[in-house]
Amino acid sequence: MNLDCIALALDFSAEDKVIDLLKSLNPKPSILKIGLELCSVFGIERAVELCKAHSPNSKIFLDLKLHDIPNTVGKTILGIKNNFGTDVNYLTVHTLGGAEMIKASVEAGVGKITIIGVSVLTSHSAENFRNDFGIDLGTLSKKLLKVGVDNGLKWFVSSPQEIISIKASYPSVKLVTPGIRKEGASLQDQKRVATPRRALELGADMLVLGRSITQAENPNSSWIELIQEVEDTKRSLETKKIADC
Ligand code: C5P
Repeated sequence: MNLDCIALALDFSAEDKVIDLLKSLNPKPSILKIGLELCSVFGIERAVELCKAHSPNSKIFLDLKLHDIPNTVGKTILGIKNNFGTDVNYLTVHTLGGAEMIKASVEAGVGKITIIGVSVLTSHSAENFRNDFGIDLGTLSKKLLKVGVDNGLKWFVSSPQEIISIKASYPSVKLVTPGIRKEGASLQDQKRVATPRRALELGADMLVLGRSITQAENPNSSWIELIQEVEDTKRSLETKKIADC
């Protein structure tokens, strides 16, 4: 079973929660996303160690959403690469950091860490973005994507709603899609959401799943249901591709 298109977000600040969850999941996730919560409390080293101890074959997606001056971001990524490079596979940076910061990130990650660009968070809606900043979210997202592509990024985070237009402009970029919810489930703070099936049909390359697994009454049954939906969708997309040829 290839679960490489699912990243499970471990948004916890307590070790026992991480351990209980990882112990309960079977099969183990191929990609574990660790971010601000876990890394701020335990540090990157301990967070990575926890993941590897309870799910040794999982790749690590370090979702730090770095955004600082180019020198600071570049050196931070180099430090992560030199210390945890064989364990950390993906790392996020905000494309709002601009061309020089993106270039510094890509150069620092070379050979070990795939840098993923974040444009506008999926918790913003077009409406609240306009109210908060007086800016059109779609226009800004396009500019952020372009600066990312022009400066060497190949992977981006995108809401389900943006997948089609991004793939139309940049067919070779890979898209990581958070804001995944089961049909009818609570959106929590996410605004731009889709079901796993819909996100894959639209062209997502990696789905980020968080609370719909981690906060589920029975995380393992939600996890298995999700895997089933992903596998069914991939099979039907494959069949459609063959039929279209
Ligand atoms: O719990 P939920 O499924 O909403 O979790 C989504 C995860 O994806 C969180 O870890 C969040 O930090 C992350 N994320 C996001 N929107 C982005 C980038 C990352 O929701 N644009």
